[in-house]
Amino acid sequence: MPTPDRPGAVLHGDTIAVARQKMRRLIEHGFKARQRHEDGGLDARLLLAHHLQLSRSELIAAADRPVTAVQATALMALAVERGTGVPVARLVGETEFWSLPFYLSAETLVPRQDSELLVEAALSRIGDQVSHILDIGTGSGCLALAILSERPAASALGTDISSDALKTARRNADRLHLTDRFSTRLSDVFDGLQDSDPFDLILSNPPYIASAVIDGLDSEVRDHDPRGALDGGVDGLEFYRRLATQSAAFLRPEGYLIVEIGFDQAVNVAALLHQAGYRSEVLRDLAGHPRVLIGQKIVRKH
Ligand SMILES: C[S@@+](CC[C@H](N)C(=O)[O-])C[C@H]1O[C@@H](n2cnc3c(N)ncnc32)[C@H](O)[C@@H]1O
Repeated sequence: MPTPDRPGAVLHGDTIAVARQKMRRLIEHGFKARQRHEDGGLDARLLLAHHLQLSRSELIAAADRPVTAVQATALMALAVERGTGVPVARLVGETEFWSLPFYLSAETLVPRQDSELLVEAALSRIGDQVSHILDIGTGSGCLALAILSERPAASALGTDISSDALKTARRNADRLHLTDRFSTRLSDVFDGLQDSDPFDLILSNPPYIASAVIDGLDSEVRDHDPRGALDGGVDGLEFYRRLATQSAAFLRPEGYLIVEIGFDQAVNVAALLHQAGYRSEVLRDLAGHPRVLIGQKIVRKH
């Protein structure tokens, strides 16, 4: 018997509308058990739509259709798992970034909306010109592929230390019909790129969380995003040091190095860029936090 403390199960024959309400209550019940008081309505809809392979409007139109026994069991399991803290994107195996769909896998970070600022910064710098872009730590490929989707004259190389991530990035390029302009390479930052022609723009959303901070992160990040996508070394700046000191050799004169940063890293990362011969500009996210640094290689005229 469902009670305010124990929501009812999704049952064979429940209409889609009823299943959705039950999923919402199950999700919120799980959230409450973890001291979170969030609305589960959107997550219930996303999980339902994904599992039944229906768009948002199709879901509304099908509100009176009953679910099968198999669907009821699966929907119930999805709602319970979401309640325990598994992100929706992990449950459905994909997410949206820059209004495009991206598959995920075990070693890809779930792309964050804040990272769209990196895409905007890159688009503003390359204009419509033919340009070759390097995306270091490409993960799902979301940054490079979002840029290519907007710039038909651009091409990109996505690198990562994870072959699982590169496989997923290639799947995403295929899904978005961008394989002719997107290639991948297994590389530890710049180590595998010695034979590359200079790039017009290098971008990276590197791992930037200080190692000791990771255990204290929200469990939905700590337990479900790959540690290798988060861990930026002792002070969180390890990758910026490598990017700052090694990137110039891979950039054309006056080319750009654009990086995502943690909200409190702007001063330190800007200092690293200046030491390495870049001028820099900070962009803030919607919350007003420094989020992106645009570095431009200074060419000294003699
Ligand atoms: C914060 S995630 C960013 C993923 C994706 N670009 C995005 O914005 O959603 C960092 C990525 O860097 C990759 N990575 C970690 N260490 C690396 C290394 N030494 N060399 C290259 N890539 C690395 C991780 O596998 C992960 O895909």
